[in-house]
Amino acid sequence: MIKFDYGNADVSVIGQEHGLNLAQEFDQYKDRIASIIADLNKRKDKPEQWLQWMNLGYNEETVWYVKEYASMVRGRFDNILVLGIGGSALGGIAITEALLKPYWNLLTPEQRDNYPRIFFLDNIDPDSMTALLDMLDLKRTLVNVITKSGSTAETMSQFMIVKDRLEKELGEDEYRKNVVATTDKQTGVLRQIAEQEGYKTFVVPDDVGGRFSVFSAVGLLPIALVGLDIDDIMNGIKDMDLALKNTDIHENIAAQGALIQYLMDVKKGKNLSVMMPYSSRLRYVSDWYVQLWAESLGKSTDKDGNHVHVGPTPIKALGATDQHSQFQLFNEGPNDKIITFIRVGEFDKTLEIPRIFEYTGIGYLGGKTINDLINAEADSTRVSLSDYERPTVTITIPKVDGYSIAQLLYMLEVQTAIAGELYNIDTFSQPGVEQAKNYTYALMGRAGYEDSASILQSKIAMR
Ligand code: PA5
Repeated sequence: MIKFDYGNADVSVIGQEHGLNLAQEFDQYKDRIASIIADLNKRKDKPEQWLQWMNLGYNEETVWYVKEYASMVRGRFDNILVLGIGGSALGGIAITEALLKPYWNLLTPEQRDNYPRIFFLDNIDPDSMTALLDMLDLKRTLVNVITKSGSTAETMSQFMIVKDRLEKELGEDEYRKNVVATTDKQTGVLRQIAEQEGYKTFVVPDDVGGRFSVFSAVGLLPIALVGLDIDDIMNGIKDMDLALKNTDIHENIAAQGALIQYLMDVKKGKNLSVMMPYSSRLRYVSDWYVQLWAESLGKSTDKDGNHVHVGPTPIKALGATDQHSQFQLFNEGPNDKIITFIRVGEFDKTLEIPRIFEYTGIGYLGGKTINDLINAEADSTRVSLSDYERPTVTITIPKVDGYSIAQLLYMLEVQTAIAGELYNIDTFSQPGVEQAKNYTYALMGRAGYEDSASILQSKIAMR
């Protein structure tokens, strides 16, 4: 299991002004936390609670269909091209970057066991899109278009371009075999198109928001298509889910994480939440976390209708790289952050530093390993931050494998849900995102958005 260490957020280490008296706080919040956990688990099976993500670890049917499809298309494609944005892309990116051999797309087919390369197109930059589409042999590319709503302008415009190119290269009938759509089971434009065109489809389940969808077909299908073991992932979620059903805050790491983040914000003014893995393979876990935390907790009103404008701002950082970038600020700038380190117990490889240049000032490095170095840097950074009375917590995963990554992401999802309850906000809505989407529809001339379009045009002219 993954471990959570919160000692460096405690008064005993970083002092009264910036630390929390965690024994006292856990005691004071234990009933509230217990009732939040019990309530989430009670509501998770009910419709419209947006808690179906808590059941995804048990969705054997989806796993079966995903595996069946992945084995059916095995060997037919050299590339997987995922089209999606936000929650429809970030989970897949985080997991494939963590679990595939590093630099996967640069490896030979043999080095990849003949599994395809994978590309996520999660932005609409015309230059990079054109470059990617020109580079890929579309005949040998399986396009997985993912959008829960089925109408997100970025994703659907990408798809229109890709479909057009595919059809030109493969012909009206054949091109369909190169498309698999992941979308709502009934509604949305992509569902309509998929039915009309006869695409293979997978479902984004009801009551699962984009940022909580990584363990549905949204994340599982791309993961399986490149040969990653999704059983390991499912086992990780299930074991973590079981552990996080414990209503005792002393035993529940997601509850501990949520309470510490919440209290650091509301009591100690630390409204910036830094996610800093000490592993390049976990770099995109931070991107995923940033979306999860920001979209879930950044809300203008609470559940009672009060204007609250809450939400700690998530920040991504990477160890050791950011020690040479953001760290000056983290150590000596405003004491307004809580930093979460992610540590890896055991790296896959051990990389020795040769005993050379012994006559110079870098001779001391010889005979050590890069593993020693990254671990020493993580330890020294944590201690240095605590010297400056800066709170940190540390999540340690035993290894970068499917089981641990699933545990980590699921734990962070539950932590977010519990934090949302502590803030008393609706964790699962995203009115701010919807507003921006609607403005885009209006500006791009979507039917039904004409009134907003003219208001927007005049605002754009004025501002
Ligand atoms: O978490 C969310 O709900 C959003 O980030 C969505 O995932 C994102 O806007 C993409 O939406 P869709 O999957 O409908 O294309």
